[in-house]
Amino acid sequence: MKIRETLKQYPKENLTRTPTPLQFLPHLSEDLGLNFYLKRDDLTDLALGGDKPRKLEYEIAQAIEKGADYLVTCGSAQSNHARLTTAAARRLGLDVAVVLSHDQWHAIQGNLLTVYLMGARVEMIHTEDHWDLEEHALNLVKELETDGRKPHYIPVSGTTPHSSLGYISGALETLEQMEEQNIVPDAVYLPFGTGGIFTAMMLSFREKGIEAPFFGISVNRSLDLCFANLDKWWAALCELLDVDPDRPRGEFRLYDEFIGKEYADPTEAGLDAILKMATAEGILLDPVYSGKVFSGFLDHFEAGDWEKGQNILMLHSGGVPAIFAYAGILEEHMRKRGRL
Ligand SMILES: Cc1ncc(COP(=O)(O)O)c(C=O)c1O
Repeated sequence: MKIRETLKQYPKENLTRTPTPLQFLPHLSEDLGLNFYLKRDDLTDLALGGDKPRKLEYEIAQAIEKGADYLVTCGSAQSNHARLTTAAARRLGLDVAVVLSHDQWHAIQGNLLTVYLMGARVEMIHTEDHWDLEEHALNLVKELETDGRKPHYIPVSGTTPHSSLGYISGALETLEQMEEQNIVPDAVYLPFGTGGIFTAMMLSFREKGIEAPFFGISVNRSLDLCFANLDKWWAALCELLDVDPDRPRGEFRLYDEFIGKEYADPTEAGLDAILKMATAEGILLDPVYSGKVFSGFLDHFEAGDWEKGQNILMLHSGGVPAIFAYAGILEEHMRKRGRL
């Protein structure tokens, strides 16, 4: 069976209007001498948008089928996933708790501000590493169960086999738009956090016969962990979609050199990439995800990897509310570049 048909077998809660636009960026394209297309998943219409609504539509449907009445998740202080899980819970009438790291971005701004506004139960844990949080979140799940609640735990970034179906669907949507607009991509640039988006999109493109190379820009993990995650999600998605896991993956490359010192580190290249996109097209990127993906593309472009007239597709996965938590850093950077 085709993956589109198999996908229909899985329950889905409706959390956002789709399709999101697939836009040709004329000024950037002219400046670079190629055709640059941006899939605008920053424009999903749940609480300031991003990739998560697509993931949560499938994940929460599973939870509701099992009788869940409470969502529990975890992330960094500026977690987009915490914002959108809170919004999804509110939309569906569920209770919600978020376990967040009390890291250096814990000012009540950006994503964290929205989480408080939507009234999530917020547990701040004194760690700089949001990967340590799972244990705390699972303890909270046990506590809630003891109180007679039916909590459903969603891991960091919202990535599970079922949630990744959201990006099978997102990729099929993109492929349809590319066909309508007559676009055959020469390269696809994506963020790589846990790898849920990347794996699901690559699998969908390959199943539909699109063999353009995929470029995953890691935002937190070293290459060995990225590859391990890719293997894990690939196997899980192939099982859910009844695809042979040994089918060829096609050409792809992952990069961990754009992370900076650590996750969420606002790199110079990422900040310059934000300024470039904002100035050329009036489109806002963020310093943690989309700015880094674009900085990865620009680095490759400057190294001469892309030729005149080629078609580049990049996913804007959202994350923009974080710019308000990074306002001081952005101000300093603009001063350095003579913008202020
Ligand atoms: C805006 C944004 N883009 C991309 C990602 C990474 O997605 P994945 O974990 O599926 O690689 C995240 C994860 O939190 C995110 O918030």
